[in-house]
Amino acid sequence: MKKKLILFRSKYGSTKEYIKELAERIDGDCVISDAKKFSGNLKDYNPIILGSCTYMGRILIVDFIKENKKILKNRKIYLFVVGVFPEDNEASKQSFELIPEEIRKNLLGYRKLPGRINITKLNFFERMILKITRAKVEDLVDYSQIDLVIEDLKESGLL
Ligand SMILES: Cc1cc2nc3c(=O)[nH]c(=O)nc-3n(C[C@H](O)[C@H](O)[C@H](O)COP(=O)(O)O)c2cc1C
Repeated sequence: MKKKLILFRSKYGSTKEYIKELAERIDGDCVISDAKKFSGNLKDYNPIILGSCTYMGRILIVDFIKENKKILKNRKIYLFVVGVFPEDNEASKQSFELIPEEIRKNLLGYRKLPGRINITKLNFFERMILKITRAKVEDLVDYSQIDLVIEDLKESGLL
């Protein structure tokens, strides 16, 4: 049986916290890596769970997805993203649309989880962006939402 792989992109840590929570609840062998540092062969893993933060309308792991599109479109993959805008928000839908179509169609599940903005950690540019987007500075992180991800993974036969 192949090992499970969890790849993530997280700038200020909230996505990584969700990943830790998820990993603790997944039975069996599981490799966890920052997508930027991953140097293994995606073909050696199944399923592949992707978790990513969202910044300025972009799901950051999309770069990794594009670079590895050919392999990922033939793997069993699940994606959850983290952000302060809800999943049904127009901006969230647009971010999702930026994922290549063949990967979107191949996803066995997708979910958006609530994120966190800690103003004290942000640089000047990020603070300006927040003013423009009117994103609320708040902590919406809720680990119980990982239950929903687990349910998705079970429903799609990935766990
Ligand atoms: C400059 C800036 C831009 C952001 N843009 C978005 C966005 O477009 N959509 C969204 O849902 N959340 C947005 N967020 C919220 C982040 O996705 C949220 O803080 C998330 O928890 C970050 O994950 P991380 O802690 O793993 O980096 C933005 C936050 C900042 C500071």
